[in-house]
Amino acid sequence: MKRLKIALIPGDGIGKEVLQEGVKVLKTIDKIDNNLFFEFEEFPWGCDYYVKNGKMMDDNGLEQLKDFDAIYLGAVGHPSVPDHVSLWDLLLKIRKGFDQYVNLREITLLNQSLTPLKDKSEEDIDFLVIRENSEGEYAGVGEWMNKGTPEEVVLQTSVFSRKGTERIIRYAFEEARRQKKSLTSISKGNALNYSMVFWDQVFNEISQEYPDVKTYSYLVDAASMYFIKEPERFEIVVTTNLFGDILTDLGAAITGGLGLAAGANINPERQFPPMFEPIHGSAPDIAGKGIANPLAAIWSVAQMMEYFHEGNWKDYIIESIRVLLKEGRYLTRDLGGKSLTTETGDRLIEILTQMV
Ligand code: NAI
Ligand code: MG
Repeated sequence: MKRLKIALIPGDGIGKEVLQEGVKVLKTIDKIDNNLFFEFEEFPWGCDYYVKNGKMMDDNGLEQLKDFDAIYLGAVGHPSVPDHVSLWDLLLKIRKGFDQYVNLREITLLNQSLTPLKDKSEEDIDFLVIRENSEGEYAGVGEWMNKGTPEEVVLQTSVFSRKGTERIIRYAFEEARRQKKSLTSISKGNALNYSMVFWDQVFNEISQEYPDVKTYSYLVDAASMYFIKEPERFEIVVTTNLFGDILTDLGAAITGGLGLAAGANINPERQFPPMFEPIHGSAPDIAGKGIANPLAAIWSVAQMMEYFHEGNWKDYIIESIRVLLKEGRYLTRDLGGKSLTTETGDRLIEILTQMV
């Protein structure tokens, strides 16, 4: 029997609303599967916490989280707290503190009606983006000189270490080999004449160790065009922190929008807990109305099951989402329906329960 401790961080806005639905799915799995048992502990961290306590999470927050098997996060962000504070002091603190250097984002179209791309179907849009998640453009290194003067200069430095670059690229090659798929590196070696020349060099070096993996290498601008015009080119993609952030929102847009897109933050050595989250934010424009789409948060649960080596549950959850989309009767507004968050979640659980 597997006893798994899950730390819940609902966060702000719709984060709280969608996480509740994901927890319902976890409880359903717990009930059906005699081998799986989940224990939950909730942490009230986020912007409300900041307004009351002057910080996004407890000072020893990472210490409190480190013995959990997984962290399940809703979303953080509220107009009362600057976005760079809420992001850096909670989400990025966890990603960096727990060395979750792999970010996995599945770009999978589950129903043709959800893509704005003409003539593209489920077979054309089905790939995995592996985003570097610990350094690169989001290393937080820089300088702000002569602030407020005409001589003001701001530097934002990207950091690409050999260790950091090799490990993400090697992870991607291993994944491509395991899945017997091609691997595409997305970079920008023509303009970023240090960092991306280095990235391309490391990609080439490591590719020598994987002669069985077919590789492609694109500039990020061309790749953005291919995401739209020929998404069928991609199977496994590896890219940097910034490019991955932007490209996966584009990936979300061609597969049904932010209401469906999930991301896993993983430390592959499993020295620290992983974190699973919908990639959308706290959506202040619709928060509190009960109309947020819970499917991204539920997809995160599928990714969590894969991490726990419970691939069957992952498949069941994704198939249940596929059925729900096909039925079309219990969709939230962002997908053209009228259902509330809880109604969509409840229907998903009915489908899942019938399927297993
Ligand atoms: P957002 O993702 O919160 O919202 C963008 C648009 O998508 C909004 O119109 C929203 O209503 C819609 N949307 C997002 N998720 C949805 C869902 N599940 N169902 C239906 N509609 C959905 O991004 P935005 O507005 O740029 O940021 C709002 C706040 O969230 C900011 O404070 C930002 O810093 C934070 N944020 C947090 C993230 C995180 O916690 N991982 C990620 C992105 C933003
Ligand atoms: Mg993002």
